[in-house]
Amino acid sequence: MNTVRDEIMPLQSESDLITVRQAVRIWMVPEGFNILEQTKMVTAVSELARNAITYGGGGEARLQLLADAARRGIRVTIIDHGVGIEDITKAMVDGYSTGSGLGLGLGGSKRLVDEFNIWSEPGQGTRVEITRWKQ
Ligand SMILES: Nc1ncnc2c1ncn2[C@@H]1O[C@H](COP(=O)(O)OP(=O)(O)O)[C@@H](O)[C@H]1O
Ligand SMILES: [Mg+2]
Repeated sequence: MNTVRDEIMPLQSESDLITVRQAVRIWMVPEGFNILEQTKMVTAVSELARNAITYGGGGEARLQLLADAARRGIRVTIIDHGVGIEDITKAMVDGYSTGSGLGLGLGGSKRLVDEFNIWSEPGQGTRVEITRWKQ
């Protein structure tokens, strides 16, 4: 697997979130992802980025274009150094929220992408990596 392009963007404010959303779409267009595919990825990124800002005190988004012999893809990793998630299994359940949200962010994001990986350590922070492949 080769990383063709790799960029880290700050994620502290609402305007950072908008910049990251736009960057994801701009990266996906030349890769041949259609509007629906772009929208699914952007929506997933948005949910995770909002979580990082709201619950994690902000962090970074890493955008990567990946390529191997068979396919290309986009990977976005959302990282924060906040309070972390005590029980990931519980947090993934639709409807579970410790805030005022609908509790659909994590579960919804997972359903919108091809690969979803989450790591979290209470008191250390949270990292969520999502990937969409263009096959
Ligand atoms: N980056 C994060 N840091 C700490 N807790 C988080 C983070 N992301 C999600 N959570 C926890 O997981 C819960 C579920 O997240 P989510 O499915 O996005 O729903 P919502 O944002 O509507 O609460 C949140 O309410 C919060 O308790
Ligand atoms: Mg959320």
